[in-house]
Amino acid sequence: MERLDKVLSNLGYGSRKEIKILVKNGVVEVDGEIVKSSDIKVDPEKAKIKVSGEEINYRKYIYIMMNKPAGVVSATFDNYDETVIDLLEPDHAVFNPFPVGRLDKDTEGLLLITNDGELNHRLTSPKWHVDKVYYAQIDKAVDEKDVEAFEKGIVIDDGYKCLPAKLEVISSDKDGSEINVTIQEGKFHQVKRMFEARSKSVLYLKRIKMGNLVLDEDLEEGQYRELSKEELSIIKER
Ligand code: URA
Repeated sequence: MERLDKVLSNLGYGSRKEIKILVKNGVVEVDGEIVKSSDIKVDPEKAKIKVSGEEINYRKYIYIMMNKPAGVVSATFDNYDETVIDLLEPDHAVFNPFPVGRLDKDTEGLLLITNDGELNHRLTSPKWHVDKVYYAQIDKAVDEKDVEAFEKGIVIDDGYKCLPAKLEVISSDKDGSEINVTIQEGKFHQVKRMFEARSKSVLYLKRIKMGNLVLDEDLEEGQYRELSKEELSIIKER
């Protein structure tokens, strides 16, 4: 059981003081009864709580899928740049969520944002090897030799040998290529550094899949939505 004012303030309905005023104004209902005191104990998982006639959407954790745009950083705070958290509406930001792993400032695509620390750990811990799929545009022709090298494990600039990666060539000629690449790790600038090791440059990078979770193509750059129940079970089942 939790205090009603705490439940409501955690969901962004205001400070405890403001919630006291809401209650005083008679706009807060629990299980069909107008409540008289903001410090009563409720079970937020079971009680039907309404504010101004509207039922609250209680959740402890929030799970957001964002189509990250280029130009914003995957952090909760930054002195110079806009962050992915700055793109959230106040009623989502109130959960104090953070990005799961990082995409570079110029990388777009699938970014999970949550306040569930345990899920974050399971998805980012090196020992879990969660597959991440990226679509990329490359400045030169990508060929079968690159596919083989990725499969064997690319040695990047600091001498680290990457785990085998699957490289699929969508189109390729001397003016450039389009590819999908699946990596199991998340080293700093990993995809870019893997191509640099093959003397090629990544011109555009977008993450399209993480584990079995696929980026919703209906999300425009910078848009986001909460995960569906199915998506949440997909991402948690690993
Ligand atoms: N690899 C990169 O180089 N950059 C990213 O943002 C993600 C993977």
